[in-house]
Amino acid sequence: MNFISMNLVTLLYLVASVCFIQALKGLSSPSTARLGNSFGMAGMAIAVVTTVALIFKLQAELATGRGMGFPLVILGVVVGGAIGAVAAKKVEMTKMPELVAAMHSLIGLAAVCIAIAAVSEPWAFNIATRSTPLPFGNRLELFIGTFVGAVTFSGSVIAFGKLSGKYKFRLFQGAPVRFAGQHILNLVLAVALVALGLMFCFADGVEPAWTPFIIMAALAFILGVLIIIPIGGADMPVVVSMLNSYSGWAAAGIGFSLNNSMLIIAGSLVGSSGAILSYIMCKAMNRSFFNVLLGGFGGEAVVDDGGTKEQKPVKSGSADDAAFILQNAESVIIVPGYGLAVARAQHSVKELVDKLTAHGVQVRYAIHPVAGRMPGHMNVLLAEAEVPYDQVVEMEDINGEFGQTDVVLVLGANDVVNPAAKDPKSAIAGMPILEAYKAKSIIVNKRSMASGYAGLDNELFYQPNTMMVFGDAKKVIESMVKAVE
Ligand code: TAP
Repeated sequence: MNFISMNLVTLLYLVASVCFIQALKGLSSPSTARLGNSFGMAGMAIAVVTTVALIFKLQAELATGRGMGFPLVILGVVVGGAIGAVAAKKVEMTKMPELVAAMHSLIGLAAVCIAIAAVSEPWAFNIATRSTPLPFGNRLELFIGTFVGAVTFSGSVIAFGKLSGKYKFRLFQGAPVRFAGQHILNLVLAVALVALGLMFCFADGVEPAWTPFIIMAALAFILGVLIIIPIGGADMPVVVSMLNSYSGWAAAGIGFSLNNSMLIIAGSLVGSSGAILSYIMCKAMNRSFFNVLLGGFGGEAVVDDGGTKEQKPVKSGSADDAAFILQNAESVIIVPGYGLAVARAQHSVKELVDKLTAHGVQVRYAIHPVAGRMPGHMNVLLAEAEVPYDQVVEMEDINGEFGQTDVVLVLGANDVVNPAAKDPKSAIAGMPILEAYKAKSIIVNKRSMASGYAGLDNELFYQPNTMMVFGDAKKVIESMVKAVE
């Protein structure tokens, strides 16, 4: 049954790796994202089929007859694929971060399971034979893979619970869980983990040192929980991106143990792209990357008590008033935010923009890198409504144009247009914002004067040239569409 040579395996893995790199490249722009996804799917199909063929080959070569490789792989592909397909079909855009957290937990758990299997049956992984002890290098890789995988698993489970907000369990609540000596405990656990890892790596004898290995894995599960519980639920998307990165490194670590170049490459791509994404998100929210890395992130998040706000005058108008202003403008910039996604109003906005464009109004959308609740949220939302890509402009390209714009229409966005970011004393000081406040007139649609994610009041709403249009984004925009002749 030697129908695939190692050279062919290497070649196919190389092709799959190129597909994955093309997938990442494609996903960097909405216009090429579909192609990128196709590359990703093709790469994964090649990788899975090649790995199944490799399992056959190794089973035949080792001639052990042990294990039930093929049926198990098929079972995994069918059951896992079906669950993934149903989950992806059903999930709402705003719930994407929790689906991603759930997926990461499985990657972490898979890394731990593979490591346990590799420690107990090294022959099956071509690592070493039963007659010789597991080489030091393999032990080290297995230790790192298990450690990172276990932290990723339990951390992602907590992140999932916090994001879903559905469970009563205290650790799944959005509010941070803190106790005295938390950081010291984390440090002690980390030191103990390293010590146990060294005991596992340097143990004598042919048999693996199970005791330090099992204790190390158990402590890593606990550490994953402890790192994530002090972080507030609203800050979870950045944490999810960080856990994404961890899951990639866990996979890469296990790839070294299994001597599987595909796993090393795919794991490294996930690990590094996740780390870069986390860095970009932190920068766009003016948070410290190292606070996220060390797990203390989000502690300083401001909570709006709602009751202490001074009553300032606000100008409000109807959807009809807004439509009148919009159709008489020459240039309009639309700022979409989380509220637009919640209201699922992207198709209505597209209809409104089509009507305004037919009136000769120049309309563009301004995208803030962290508008919404996940990276690229607004781009995906607008792409779903088939908004032409040339109307969608990133923050750094459009910020210089607000001053010359007649009307800015802010739809369910708040923090990303909050001029408080310019105030060094503000909690969001230094966060880059879309400079909507510079426009000649501003129309803001939201349901109330409630604060956004950062829990801060927004001076933009009180500017004399701002008109608030209160109501659900979808209903308000539909009324505007009707009002534009
Ligand atoms: P937010 O600041 O959260 O503001 C959204 C606004 O939408 C709210 O003030 C809310 O006001 C309004 N809203 C909610 N439902 C609505 C509906 N049905 N119709 C109309 N309005 C509705 O959103 P943003 O401006 O998009 O900023 C995103 C925030 O999330 C930033 O602080 C960012 O740092 C954070 N964040 C983003 C990410 C990523 S990667 N995107 C990750 C982590 C954190 P009402 O309740 O009054 O309607």
